[in-house]
Amino acid sequence: MNTKISGKEVSSYIKNRILDEVKHLTDKPCLAVVLVGNNPASLSYVSSKKKSCEELGFNHRDIELEESVSEEALLLVIDELNNDKDVDGILVQLPLPKHIDTDNIIRRIVPEKDVDGFTPVNMGNLVLGQDCFVPCTPKGILALLDYYKIDTDGKKVVVVGRSNIVGKPIANLLMQKDRNATVTVCNTHTVDLKKECLAADILIVACGQREAIKGDMVKEGAVVIDVGINRIEDSTRERGWRLVGDCDYNALKDKVSAITPVPGGVGPMTIAMLMENTLIAFKRRRGL
Ligand code: GUN
Repeated sequence: MNTKISGKEVSSYIKNRILDEVKHLTDKPCLAVVLVGNNPASLSYVSSKKKSCEELGFNHRDIELEESVSEEALLLVIDELNNDKDVDGILVQLPLPKHIDTDNIIRRIVPEKDVDGFTPVNMGNLVLGQDCFVPCTPKGILALLDYYKIDTDGKKVVVVGRSNIVGKPIANLLMQKDRNATVTVCNTHTVDLKKECLAADILIVACGQREAIKGDMVKEGAVVIDVGINRIEDSTRERGWRLVGDCDYNALKDKVSAITPVPGGVGPMTIAMLMENTLIAFKRRRGL
């Protein structure tokens, strides 16, 4: 019997907890959401983030900029949000257009409002195991492991993908003294990806390649966390597409002990954690 790890269920549990807390606040947390251009996936993520703000009684500030906006103009927007006393959290939806240096933009966000946890100060503190804003997707993965009581102590964890958003932070979080996993991080140059994956007690896949992990690449009884969100054409759907993960869910589901579906797995957790980080920023800024 295997477990479908429901991010839908866990995220609504967490959001309800946040809602209960926010109900009693006179001032409400405020998240600024910056969207550049009109990438369909980004538009959809940003609209889910705003919807969650509304559901939880948060304020939100929406900044929508043309694809052609200059780096200088975007930096000025960040400065304004940094200095705006009513804004608790700043989220710049990634990816940004190619003519903009993403690192420059991220660096400009003051760490106290960096609810994505992407600034060098937050990432540095994360690696050091010190207090910081933990990036939302890795934080969501830890919350899923905790909710389903999946112990990582002494376990072999394999992370596929080394992005700043997921791979690097989740690998660092799991190797720390409170989680004690033995972590391997794979990338596109890994010589034998199948061999590495087969050794995993817990496999975390965030490589952005649809169904890259096949049925013969996981160990019997492993736990699989699929972070991928890929749109594929599907003419049977009215909208013409559907979402699949970075794992071949149907090939894996009967072999593993637990797995996250796509959609309804890690995705909703990322948003719940963004709300949690924004509430933390709100409280810290007021000394609560
Ligand atoms: N693009 C994909 N994931 C994320 C995320 O967690 N935060 C931001 N800001 N952009 C993203």
